[in-house]
Amino acid sequence: MADIEGAKDTKDFYLDVPFENQAFFLRGSGALDWGMQNRLARIFNPASGRTVMLAIDHGYFQGPTTGLERVDVSILPLLPHTNALMLTRGILRTTIPSTFSQGIVLRASGGPSILKELSNEQIALDIDDAIRLNACAMAVQVFIGGEFETQSIHNLTRLVDAGLRYGVITLGVTAVGKTMVRDAKYFRLACRICAELGAQIVKTYYVPEGFETITASCPVPVVMAGGKKLPELEALTMAYRAVSEGAAGVDMGRNIFQADAPVAMIQAVGKVVHELMKPEPAYDLYQTLKHETAGVRS
Ligand code: R5P
Repeated sequence: MADIEGAKDTKDFYLDVPFENQAFFLRGSGALDWGMQNRLARIFNPASGRTVMLAIDHGYFQGPTTGLERVDVSILPLLPHTNALMLTRGILRTTIPSTFSQGIVLRASGGPSILKELSNEQIALDIDDAIRLNACAMAVQVFIGGEFETQSIHNLTRLVDAGLRYGVITLGVTAVGKTMVRDAKYFRLACRICAELGAQIVKTYYVPEGFETITASCPVPVVMAGGKKLPELEALTMAYRAVSEGAAGVDMGRNIFQADAPVAMIQAVGKVVHELMKPEPAYDLYQTLKHETAGVRS
């Protein structure tokens, strides 16, 4: 029996204080259940409404990518500076400490390697395992205009259905084939299709012309994909433009872990994303941190 000694009789029901209904902070997410919102709040920082997601899932189709040869050496020092980590279950189980408490976004599609037709992906993760690993989201590639467009869309919708059943978020990644034109018109189409078919987050590439029309016409948060390695100032400029033009953060890989100083780079990206620090001061910060962290293997 509970100890009731000293229990007070007087109670205060704050009858003059109306119950406060709080709106959820992310675009298009207000109607989601508590568990899904909670998972989103572990990916996106509720204070800024944005995320620095670190993408290290490249090995699922291209093996030991430059910078990811030894995830234990190169990536673990970056973890304190991420809001979320996008990766495969193989790397998660083998290499990431289970004390990692930020969002986990699991690669959930796969199949072909770089030696084959990349759009020929299938679902490569069971929802049971995503839950077992306490994942916040499952990431699936969607190849609009690609050879296996319909199959990749069905991968997305099946994961969305499974995710809704158990409260796990689905992130649609707009993949572009080598021959596809990367412009706002294409990405508006691809992002909107992902959101219409149920993705709760969309990842897409930055385009210099009309990126704001992509974010404006997508009813769920859009995160900017990093893409190929750029000089650090250019990568910070791209991230700044993307968040200024409506992106809810970034999901960057090579532009962070292939930087000269990855620990410094991810912190500079964080300043840009969460505090809208301009690219030049962010680059100055990168240089300062780079010298401070000299000696950390990059
Ligand atoms: C594939 O297309 C994946 O999503 C990548 O493996 C990864 O997320 C790409 O990251 P980044 O282009 O920033 O290196």
